[in-house]
Amino acid sequence: MLTLTRHAGDLSCVRAMRTLASGLCAALLLFTATAVQAEDGYALWLRYAAPDAGAAGPSATRVTQLVVAGSPGVPSATREELQRGLAGLQGGAPANGDAVTRAGALLVGTPAASPQIARLGLDLDGLGGEGYRIRSAVVDGHATTVVAANEDIGALYGAFHLLRLLQTGQPLDGLDIREAPRLAVRMLNHWDNLDRYVERGYAGQSIWDWHRLPGWLDPRYTDYARANASIGINGTVLNNVNANADVLTPMYLDKVAAIAGVMRPYGIKVYLSARFSAPMEIGGLDTADPADADVQRWWRTKADEVYALIPDFGGFLVKANSEGQPGPQDYGRSHADGANMLADAVAPHGGIVMWRAFVYSDEEPVDRAKQAYNEFVPLDGTFHDNVLVQVKNGPIDFQPREPFHPLFGGMPKTPLMMEFQITKEYLGFSTHLAYKAPLYEEVLDADTHVQGPGSTVARVIDGSLDGHALTGIAGVANIGSDRNWSGSHFDQANWYAFGRLAWNSDLSSRDIAVEWTRMTFSNDPAVVEPVVGMMMASREAVVDYTGALGLHHVMGRGHHYGPGPWVEGGPRADWTSVYFHRADGNGIGFDRTRRGSDAVSQYAAPVAEVFDDVTRTPEEFLLWFHHVPWSHPMRSGRPLWDELVLRYDRGVETVRGMRETWAGLDGRIDAGRHAQVAAFLAIQQDEAQWWRDASIAYFQSISGRPLPAGVAPPPHPLEHYKALEFPHAPGDTQ
Ligand code: GCU
Repeated sequence: MLTLTRHAGDLSCVRAMRTLASGLCAALLLFTATAVQAEDGYALWLRYAAPDAGAAGPSATRVTQLVVAGSPGVPSATREELQRGLAGLQGGAPANGDAVTRAGALLVGTPAASPQIARLGLDLDGLGGEGYRIRSAVVDGHATTVVAANEDIGALYGAFHLLRLLQTGQPLDGLDIREAPRLAVRMLNHWDNLDRYVERGYAGQSIWDWHRLPGWLDPRYTDYARANASIGINGTVLNNVNANADVLTPMYLDKVAAIAGVMRPYGIKVYLSARFSAPMEIGGLDTADPADADVQRWWRTKADEVYALIPDFGGFLVKANSEGQPGPQDYGRSHADGANMLADAVAPHGGIVMWRAFVYSDEEPVDRAKQAYNEFVPLDGTFHDNVLVQVKNGPIDFQPREPFHPLFGGMPKTPLMMEFQITKEYLGFSTHLAYKAPLYEEVLDADTHVQGPGSTVARVIDGSLDGHALTGIAGVANIGSDRNWSGSHFDQANWYAFGRLAWNSDLSSRDIAVEWTRMTFSNDPAVVEPVVGMMMASREAVVDYTGALGLHHVMGRGHHYGPGPWVEGGPRADWTSVYFHRADGNGIGFDRTRRGSDAVSQYAAPVAEVFDDVTRTPEEFLLWFHHVPWSHPMRSGRPLWDELVLRYDRGVETVRGMRETWAGLDGRIDAGRHAQVAAFLAIQQDEAQWWRDASIAYFQSISGRPLPAGVAPPPHPLEHYKALEFPHAPGDTQ
């Protein structure tokens, strides 16, 4: 059936048809009814689109009445979201009510706020404040869908779940869903500076418009909160880990409080990155020594000031003694001394401190991959109860593939928080399509073996392995002022997937891709299948064309844009590529075995044995752990050199295939988003080719080996690639 109310053009056409019976107009009407509406991506996965013409659309179930129990704050946000969602999905909002009075109602709230929910006597034990149940029930004689929770925020999360069911075409009959998050703190880390520059950001400026705050509250903040709440994110660190102390001044705290006010109805706490030397920079002290009584007092007073303005302030994130940032080691104190001092300041208010383990020494005494473990393991058990140590997923730095960080499983007495990067510093910025959920999943599912098989990284961070209640996960945000939030339409999926896995690490990256695609693009299987196929192949493609088989840190210097396997010299060896790949005439790879840097010994014995043995190490980590001859026989039967070259080609080929698939979706996806993705895929193909050509040119100059038969030589000499410069590439450190 044609929808005659969606476009103004349709209505005028109908009027014209009455009088003119115009065949042309009829053809036009048919066209507008079947063509997909223009979209710019702002709505993210919360489009709440009415059924696509001709496709298996959102659920046919209709909600006839909406009852959301509770008053201002979270329940109001819940009611508004359901009204908005149902209006879009059903073509009109259902009637609102205080109690269920008809069949087909949706009843949402807590037993405390709704007598009808209380009378159902649903078992909500074990769901905590954030969990919920969704149940088909009979309420006072009427068939009803009930979303019930112990606290209002659980009901909001349940409402978003219900909207997801409707958006993805699930029927609302016979529902009995029980959900609660595995992790307590599920947060975004913004690497946003106060001048709105975003470090490693590829989506425009910071969304935090500091200059106009607190007077102007950009409506985008509310949409940001909605999007995050829809995937269960409950915290946000507003500013860069390379922090500016100014954010702790009264002027900025007023602005932070204003943002916190927008986040509150969506269950999102605001946190700040704290600069360790702030007592000196804005407090007039001449030291930031954590053992100094004045410094301790300064932080306690600062915490009191923050909490007076923002009673539900989450706490501080700290990057200390890392890449030039100040920290307790400047005074001969340990990371634990620094973390505990700040933890004591926020403890009376229920705050936490997230202390980053991304540290490596100023000199390079040992393999950089080993340094965080060496520094932190001796401190295990010495952190105060409200400290989480935040650990990046791998031991180097968010590379397209890394083995899991050996700290996971190495500090049983300390709650460890996972840090993933959502922004794609090393995976092609925002122009390359790289769906990162398979990367997250791979790390979460990795088995540390510290307490026997099944001691997965997911179980380390969810506290179940070592009995920790304070648990968390952070994703370095990919959000900016770009209209589509993430700089590209597909990068929205990485934000989405991070939140979904933070909520439940058992979800599969494929299932997440399916639900995201259905909500973001279309429920049409002719769209869903190819798009999910592209997404699922995309991360491996990036690994292939940037450097497979365990190669890492081979990108351009500083900005990290494009290939740079030749990068050497400069301020420190472990900021160069040659330090990491160690290619020479004989072979390639970093020997981290017991005969080399011995990084393998930081893993539990069963894992260490595998990584120590070149015949057992998974090939995707071969060059991470071993220095092997170019002729090293691979499982394919090919020598390593040939395999590496073919992986570069395979990566480019996958991107070419993605482009072709996307081109085939023309007309099934709105023109605006289709065109931008198509253009970005063209950029990606060129850049994948560039990575491949430059890398092969470089490594061939070292290996001296011929290319395998049929492989095209790079079109330019190595010097061409080395001479390319990108002085204003986005996201570089300022
Ligand atoms: C990477 C990144 C930096 C960032 C750092 C961190 O090194 O390139 O921009 O500051 O990680 O996580 O602290």
